[in-house]
Amino acid sequence: MPQATFHFPPGFVWGTATAAHQVEGNNTNNNWYAWENLPGKIKNGAKSGLACDWWGGRWKEDMDRAAEAGQNAHRLSIEWSRIQPAPDRWDEDAMDHYRQMVSGMVQRGLTPMVTLHHFTDPLWLGEQGGWENDDTPAKFAAFARRVAEALKEYVSMWVTINEPNIYATSGYLFGDFPPGKHDLGATFRVMRNLVRGHAAAYRVLHEVQPKARVSFAHHHRPFYAGHGWSPLDTLTTGVANQAFNYAFPEALRTGRLKFATWNVRLPEALNTLDYFGLNYYTTEHITLNPFKGADALGRKLPPGIETGDAGLNAVVPEGLFTSIRWANRFNLPIYITENGIEDSADLVRPRYLVQHVHQLWRAINFNWPVRGYFHWSQVDNFEWERGWTQRFGLWGLNPETQVRTRRTSVDIYAAICRTSSISSDMVEKLVPSLMPVLFPG
Ligand code: FCB
Repeated sequence: MPQATFHFPPGFVWGTATAAHQVEGNNTNNNWYAWENLPGKIKNGAKSGLACDWWGGRWKEDMDRAAEAGQNAHRLSIEWSRIQPAPDRWDEDAMDHYRQMVSGMVQRGLTPMVTLHHFTDPLWLGEQGGWENDDTPAKFAAFARRVAEALKEYVSMWVTINEPNIYATSGYLFGDFPPGKHDLGATFRVMRNLVRGHAAAYRVLHEVQPKARVSFAHHHRPFYAGHGWSPLDTLTTGVANQAFNYAFPEALRTGRLKFATWNVRLPEALNTLDYFGLNYYTTEHITLNPFKGADALGRKLPPGIETGDAGLNAVVPEGLFTSIRWANRFNLPIYITENGIEDSADLVRPRYLVQHVHQLWRAINFNWPVRGYFHWSQVDNFEWERGWTQRFGLWGLNPETQVRTRRTSVDIYAAICRTSSISSDMVEKLVPSLMPVLFPG
């Protein structure tokens, strides 16, 4: 077997990503908590509960493990409803809690990347119409200012909003996220206000911290026509690409939001990216069957390809390469802010992980400016409307006992992070089935 090592450039950022509601536990003042308590909204009636008990302090053990495994960064999010529990109240103790978390990460050699909005909204914001309300971007910017003032000593990498396309379409079009609407007009209004919220937060972060580096985290999902011969599938794929993959990021590049039949000027969105945050999980095939009524739109994973154990994501590493090539049009440093797969038995993840990191290396060899990678996730956590049915952690978690279990992927990712490379030795030892794929000959 050939011997080789694929090296990453000096200073490459290696980490994992988490989100407040998914790991903290006892987040009772936001729209997701309310949603979890409505019947039928979460798979198996599950609740976030204690989650990974980060609010109770278990972030320390998870971050110890992350640092010990050679990671040098961690992406986490701040829960707005903790910092601003009511419109006229700011909670300094909660802010202090986060200050301890980010300084604790720095002490462990982990550079924190902080997300300000990761799917959850304070209950009071929902009562005021949430992101449909045109005043919300200014409120979000006020929250961003508080967080930046409090954490600027430790944090300079920021993500304003996580996956605005998923937030808007899941909550307002497909209805599986709160507030569970099926309303294209509302989806557009939310998208527009998310663009405005991002832009306002970008400016505030730079005011408070001129050296801040700010992006949003874009979920890019390469779509392909389910049947290449079908003009309907091809047309629908184009529409889906525009609405889901392009609308939000292109608004920041062009100052125009084009979503479905809307086309509005948003000049404040221009020049509000310092890097490009890219989340990639899988590709998808799109079909349109007009005879199926409400189910006319079909979305399927590519056929015949290995998937995670819940069938949510397929293993298509080239899709990451395609996504990076697309993101490169923004001419900015690129960070992979999320990438991972649901796999409780850790049978697929080892291959998924190494093959996706390999695609990063390929992209870097094209001189595309990829600077870092955050795997989703360090430890199993609460997966939104899918509850606890999907396990994305390098470490497993029993949410009842809070016991963490080491998966093989821990060692694989550690080998990559510690050496900032993929070598034939490590692949032969840890994922031998990939030898002919990565080191043929
Ligand atoms: C992404 C979300 C993240 C997590 C992963 C599996 O869309 O940003 O919170 O749920 O999916």
